[in-house]
Amino acid sequence: MAKRRIWRIDNQEDKKTLKMNCRPVKLPDRNLKQLVADMFETMREANGVGLAAPQVGLPIQLCIIEVPAEIEEQEDGTEVEVAPAEEYVLINPRIVKTSGDEVMRDEGCLSLPGWYGMVPRHSWVTVEFQDQNGKLRRLRKADGLLGWAIQHEVDHLHGVLFTERIRDLGTLRDITQAPEEPIAA
Ligand code: NI
Repeated sequence: MAKRRIWRIDNQEDKKTLKMNCRPVKLPDRNLKQLVADMFETMREANGVGLAAPQVGLPIQLCIIEVPAEIEEQEDGTEVEVAPAEEYVLINPRIVKTSGDEVMRDEGCLSLPGWYGMVPRHSWVTVEFQDQNGKLRRLRKADGLLGWAIQHEVDHLHGVLFTERIRDLGTLRDITQAPEEPIAA
């Protein structure tokens, strides 16, 4: 496995790829397994919950998401994993259904490190995609962190950054110095 460089929107060369409408992946593709492994390593190293192929310089319709394990602290102070981490690899994803309502989320992006802003998103989405074998799959009514990450990553595959979704640009701020950064993808 190899960690890859995360491409940044403030680099003019990187930006060209980040702003591209990515091309569909033709399956099967024997190079994908290594790429997916590299992307998971790169995402975890950066403490992200998602990463899209254009963020490592490849304008193809592939993204990964990892919803962290849910940890609960017991009364005696010990920690128990109540839900395991969930990994997703979405190839050629298409959002086919969305909730009527929206939620505001403080959102960040690994291609714009340190910056966060309030982004309106659907409270759930249904996404259709292919797995690495080319099989068509569907995640129904994905909500919470997963639903948010799907919308953020699918946007990446069409050259859309979260900053373009912000309605109130006054919420956009650099919190590199903050004690704890919210999640980014
Ligand atoms: Ni992002």
